[in-house]
Amino acid sequence: MEKSNVIFFDTTLRDGEQSPGASMNLKEKLIVANQLAALGVDVIEAGFPISSQGDFEAVKTISQQIKTSSIAGLCRASEKDINACWNAIKYSKKPRIHIFLATSDLHMEKKLQKTRSQVLDMAIKSIKYAKSLCKDIEFSAEDAGRSDMDFLCKVVEAVIDAGATTVNIPDTVGYTTPVEFGQKIAEIKRKVPNIDKTILSVHCHNDLGLAVANSLSAIENGARQVECTINGIGERAGNASLEEIAMALKVRPHYYNAKHSIKTNEIYNTSKLVSRLTGIPVQVNKAIVGANAFAHESGIHQDGVLKARETYEIMSPADVGVPESLLVLGKHSGRHAFFKRIKDLGYKLKDKTLEQLFENFKILADKKKTIFDDDIIALIEEDSSSGKETFILNYLSATSGTGTIPTATVKILKSEEDNKKIKPMIFQEAACGSGPVDAVYKAIDKIINMDIKLTDFSLRSVSSGEDALGEVILKIEYMGMMYSGKGTSTDIVEASAKAYMQAINKAKSFYNNKKKGK
Ligand code: KIV
Ligand code: ZN
Repeated sequence: MEKSNVIFFDTTLRDGEQSPGASMNLKEKLIVANQLAALGVDVIEAGFPISSQGDFEAVKTISQQIKTSSIAGLCRASEKDINACWNAIKYSKKPRIHIFLATSDLHMEKKLQKTRSQVLDMAIKSIKYAKSLCKDIEFSAEDAGRSDMDFLCKVVEAVIDAGATTVNIPDTVGYTTPVEFGQKIAEIKRKVPNIDKTILSVHCHNDLGLAVANSLSAIENGARQVECTINGIGERAGNASLEEIAMALKVRPHYYNAKHSIKTNEIYNTSKLVSRLTGIPVQVNKAIVGANAFAHESGIHQDGVLKARETYEIMSPADVGVPESLLVLGKHSGRHAFFKRIKDLGYKLKDKTLEQLFENFKILADKKKTIFDDDIIALIEEDSSSGKETFILNYLSATSGTGTIPTATVKILKSEEDNKKIKPMIFQEAACGSGPVDAVYKAIDKIINMDIKLTDFSLRSVSSGEDALGEVILKIEYMGMMYSGKGTSTDIVEASAKAYMQAINKAKSFYNNKKKGK
């Protein structure tokens, strides 16, 4: 039997970015988009263009720069939304307009305050309008998992007639169970007469921890596109995880009999990248990409794996791109070895960036005997996330100890606009706190003069060894919005300060853009 193709539609940059505190800046989104393209994703949903000027710019830039994957933008079923979406994605070689409209009685009545027939009309009208701009149109029946099946089938048939090339069935609130969801897909295939003229897609949320199981069940029942995110991030409990679906199809080829374009050996890099840039850590026992996914603790398992790997491993670490050797470079490593390792890790960087990174590598290698892949990745991502910053940490000193009051002094370079000219000025403050990190944050707060609330703070070591880099990932709240920040250093107080400054700069830039109406 011929293998059917499963299209991977990645929504890390849209639904994934809707995870609390996951917001990324344009530069970070572009890095993720490039990596998604390298991973072989068929469609990248780059954002929701009408939702903010920042989202619009990100979708536009991604559609201008990514050449291989289709670029989708999300919009509601209105001409204004569709126009904004089209204006952002039209630069892509393969643009896709993605319209969503709720079809469950609950959403139609309570949220939209529309009748079934009004919703049906809106769906048809919006698809026809979008089709006048773009060939590739996706329609999502929001809350399809709780929609009346006869009405859902009616909407699906009508949007296909109106020109939808993909019809997506989202389980928006993660309510359905695998057998039930598979049956819904089979029923749509059976009852909608023109279903073969479109690609049937699914989009499952993970509220009951069933998003991947539901997506796989849908594939078994004829779905030909899966919508998913890296590490399963997304609204609330997240979306179906791309890496879990891709590996299930790879590990069980005879069961699913499906082919796809995901280069699974890029999974590990992509997972690390997304975790770092969003500030959302990957749980250690997460399937496929968790730190323990290939670790065998029990003696019986270790013995078995040494004798024959397949005894306790259904896939090899290499299949998902986990590097075989973790130890790489040190103080005496030269430029060439460093650049080669960066290339092997999957990064394509400009010469100027490489030279800057090499300088940073040398500084790090002076403090740290062995440099692991994770250290290199941390250097790369720290460099790439430093954009136009309002505040730059210029000096930091902190003291603490038994019987001493933790105290910190910081100097911050603040770029202020004066008569349209950017004038950098240095500010200095000192503060005491309950610990050195708290003292540093209090001193920074005095200078930046913003009402910041630290809501989450985690510290871990990036690699192994006594001199390992410490990585701080945190979240702050400012004017009702959450921002993440991360910082790495061999000194954990410095890592904490860097993470705090990064989150503050994100908040400041978002707020400034909003003020300018961007
Ligand atoms: O969960 C959902 O229903 C969505 C749609 C916009 C596809 O994210
Ligand atoms: Zn969703």
